[in-house]
Amino acid sequence: MPKKIFLIAAARPNFMKVAPLWRAMAQRPESLLPVLIHTGQHYDKNMSDVFFEDLGLPSPDVHLGVGGGSHAEQTAGVMVKFEELCLTEKPDLVMVVGDVNATMATSVTAAKLGIPVAHVEAGLRSRDMTMPEEINRLITDTIADLLFTPSPDADENLRIEGVSETRIKLVGNIMIDSLVRSVAKARDLKAYQELGMETGRYGVVTLHRPANVDDPDNLARIFDVLTAVDLPLIFPVHPRTRAVMVEHDLGSRCGLVDSRLVLADPLGYYDFMNLVIHSRLMLTDSGGLQEETTYLDIPCLTLRPNTERPITITQGTNELATIDSLPGQISRILEGNWKKGVVPDLWDGITAPRIVDVVEEFLVGR
Ligand code: UD1
Repeated sequence: MPKKIFLIAAARPNFMKVAPLWRAMAQRPESLLPVLIHTGQHYDKNMSDVFFEDLGLPSPDVHLGVGGGSHAEQTAGVMVKFEELCLTEKPDLVMVVGDVNATMATSVTAAKLGIPVAHVEAGLRSRDMTMPEEINRLITDTIADLLFTPSPDADENLRIEGVSETRIKLVGNIMIDSLVRSVAKARDLKAYQELGMETGRYGVVTLHRPANVDDPDNLARIFDVLTAVDLPLIFPVHPRTRAVMVEHDLGSRCGLVDSRLVLADPLGYYDFMNLVIHSRLMLTDSGGLQEETTYLDIPCLTLRPNTERPITITQGTNELATIDSLPGQISRILEGNWKKGVVPDLWDGITAPRIVDVVEEFLVGR
């Protein structure tokens, strides 16, 4: 009998991590049965469905339909429904990715039922407890049986916290598996042209962290810097950011209509990667984009005081930024005065099979 693995997907950054895992498990039907569970944290077509299509993921086997809400509402809603599902379906292992609310909610639920938990992208730490993701990472890593890490700094973080070596498995960056599989096709698309951009002559912006976007005055200050940049910028706007912009009328308050900052709706995986691949620079507060730009050798400015992905700075193309430092950093990029990164070890497109090897071995005899 194959072992039943619950694979949890909840929000946009999860889908490109889950896809290679699902595929690698589906290729071993004699030993593993992946069951794809969508908790529903992200539910819009362009925040969820389009990724299933682009990444070749089947429709979820189970949709918990929990939706948005406050952190407590999301977490509690997922826990109640996921507990019922675990009790009826009795999975052999629950595999979670990343650091969103459902990562933590499903891990805690499974661990309390005595079901083994595997965390993919374990060990990342910003040491910034104002980030909900840092709390999710800490809790998930404390209770997970298998901690699959993307880089040696993550192993070190776990060791410092007293995690035993037997739980730590350095396997590389799962998100790069999806990128490696998609990069050739994404390069050939024309999304950047359809948005009025020329290859190598524009920047891409994504901002959605509460610390950047929830305060309208802070977001307005960011827009003031962006509209003064001597480069067209394309900004696919996250629903959270869009809500603040609409409520406070930032479009007209910051003169966005007459600027070179082009606003767009969130894009699918291929179209968005097409934009990134052809861009001159990335400005973001996302976690994953710091890694994707390092892999693609695109200069990245991360508008945050810290990062849980320091290897993108020490080895890759990333720098932290503040609103005040942005203009100088953008000038340096445009002058060609930017570091050349290297791709970290094991960011090679075959992390998923390495993970599945470990899972198979872990489940023998259980
Ligand atoms: C969540 C993750 C964050 C991740 C981000 C990527 C947590 C704590 N945060 O933040 O780590 O980087 O996803 O997008 O889990 N909304 C929609 N449609 C959707 C999804 C969300 O309109 O499909 C709205 C929600 O109703 C809410 C807002 O966007 O008002 C924020 O959504 P939420 O899932 O709470 O958090 P994110 O900011 O997306």
